[in-house]
Amino acid sequence: MQTHHQIPALRQSLQGKTRIAFVPTMGNLHEGHLTLMRAARKYAETVVASIFVNRLQFGVGEDFEQYPRTLRTDSEKLAATGVDALFAPSENDFYPEPQGYFVEPPDFQHLLEGEFRPGHFRGVATVVLKLFNCVQPQVALFGKKDYQQLMLIRAMTRQLALPIEIVGVDTVRAPDGLALSSRNNYLAPAERAEAPRLYQTLNELKADLLREGLDKREILEQKARKNLDKHGWKTDYLAVRQQSDLQLPSLAGQKLVIVAAARLGQTRLIDNLEI
Ligand code: PAF
Repeated sequence: MQTHHQIPALRQSLQGKTRIAFVPTMGNLHEGHLTLMRAARKYAETVVASIFVNRLQFGVGEDFEQYPRTLRTDSEKLAATGVDALFAPSENDFYPEPQGYFVEPPDFQHLLEGEFRPGHFRGVATVVLKLFNCVQPQVALFGKKDYQQLMLIRAMTRQLALPIEIVGVDTVRAPDGLALSSRNNYLAPAERAEAPRLYQTLNELKADLLREGLDKREILEQKARKNLDKHGWKTDYLAVRQQSDLQLPSLAGQKLVIVAAARLGQTRLIDNLEI
């Protein structure tokens, strides 16, 4: 596997490649990321990964400084998974001058995750577009765990007419149901034991909704939130939304998804469940 830290070297090495599948990451790779890498292989003969902890998508007081940086072990995992090239720029390589041009997503960026992480999706959209410009892939793969992020990137790609197919890949879970995430490393042992309750609660809410009907949505959402609160969680949101646009369910027959973000101690976890 080739590793490039600078944009010109990356571009040069990818010259003449006709079909590239790209998986952007912030590193500290786990099985969820490696599943994306393996899925990428099905779409193209050249698989490129990136590792870059993007300051622009972290808000004030968030974990930018603390975010685990494990480039050496990440590189080994990527090489063992058969990735062809890794783009791992330093902050100065990627943002050699202060980034003054941004991708400003529409109001959708202020919903749900965006309400609790102002500016987050503007930072994500900007870095993803810039990474796309560096790698120029035909296909890019993202995990469904970051459901709203995936929707936003799909919409950006469509509206800016980028010639890139965006593929969403199912969330990889630990045997107890916890969605794999680099932030799981922050959990103390007792918190790690409690953490699967988030996904369990989403499953219980799904079962309640299927049994009692969508008319009871608000009461059932509240019951789910109370269940988390009772066990020491602080829930940012736990909501049943339309899969198509993450708005409140309005039209009959719409496919739905439950999306949630909640804190256990200092750690903020997100998850979702399609209905
Ligand atoms: O999902 C992530 O890891 C990040 O938001 C991404 C897409 C790599 C952009 O920094």
